[in-house]
Amino acid sequence: MIRAFAPGRVNLIGDHTDHQGGLVLPIAIDRGTAVTGEAGGDWVRLRSDAEEGLVEVRIGGQPPLTPGPEWGRYVSAIVELGRPARGFVGDVSTTLPLGAGLSSSAALELAVALALGFEGSPLELARLGQRSEYRAVGVPCGIMDQLTSAAGVADHALLIDCHDTSIDLVPMPEGVDVLVVDSGQRRSLEDTAYNQRLIECARAAAEVGPLRLLPEVGGITDSAARRRARHVVREIIRVRAFADALLANDARAAGELMVESHESLRTDFEVSTPRLDAMVRDLAATPGIYGARLTGAGFGGSVVALAAHGAALPEGAVRVCASRGARVTSEAGD
Ligand code: GLA
Repeated sequence: MIRAFAPGRVNLIGDHTDHQGGLVLPIAIDRGTAVTGEAGGDWVRLRSDAEEGLVEVRIGGQPPLTPGPEWGRYVSAIVELGRPARGFVGDVSTTLPLGAGLSSSAALELAVALALGFEGSPLELARLGQRSEYRAVGVPCGIMDQLTSAAGVADHALLIDCHDTSIDLVPMPEGVDVLVVDSGQRRSLEDTAYNQRLIECARAAAEVGPLRLLPEVGGITDSAARRRARHVVREIIRVRAFADALLANDARAAGELMVESHESLRTDFEVSTPRLDAMVRDLAATPGIYGARLTGAGFGGSVVALAAHGAALPEGAVRVCASRGARVTSEAGD
């Protein structure tokens, strides 16, 4: 029996910067996706406790011609690009809400890859997951979700430079809790304007060069492209300031940066929704909460908040802990 587990992630700050090679500051969380079963044979056969259907993919074969259940696209992409040497029969189970902005697809990709015998560094695992995401749903996402799930460290946030993929560990200060509130607005990246935003960022970069290198935005003629670029440039600055605030145990400053980040995602990057805005407003005004923002791609999904340890949990909020990254947790003979 093999059991592989990959966590979801919550991004504390730094959204829509990874695809521009900028900085992000996520944590892997204590919720994720497990793939359990037996290795061997020529087929990967998986069922899920969270989604319908049987996924069947032949090792070394062509990608399946019949589409199968939607979630099978991720499995099929991992098989096609990861080229496992043997099959696997088993079950997928998850403690992540699907499509809620906590990287359920990255967790599925990585857990499947590990169950299929992937051997390589966390970065290589993350790259396989990222390429599979693109293959599965046609969205050229950044590296943040998969790298966080692969490389998570207990009690630490990961300050990731998405240009060179270096990671600096930032200890989570004692005395603060990370809360997540699900908006209930479901989405999958391919149904959103994610690709559109990438095009707008590319238009800006074509005029002024890589956005991650700019100190401020000027000289971009197209107004949408200028606003997208302004978000990226300022969000990268906020990520650094937020990491410094955590290191200085200044939760108040960190919370203010989260609220600024949300505002920028709402107005300049235009990926928020009225529901997310209302949640952030309510949370930020709640005693014991330092700040809140949408987390991940936006367009729905979840809100993350930073709260004083032990503060009363607002309705619908769950506490999450910075946790270890993806791993095989048991194998025959262990
Ligand atoms: C999604 C993508 C990530 C990242 C975020 C926004 O989660 O998969 O690569 O771009 O959106 O920060």
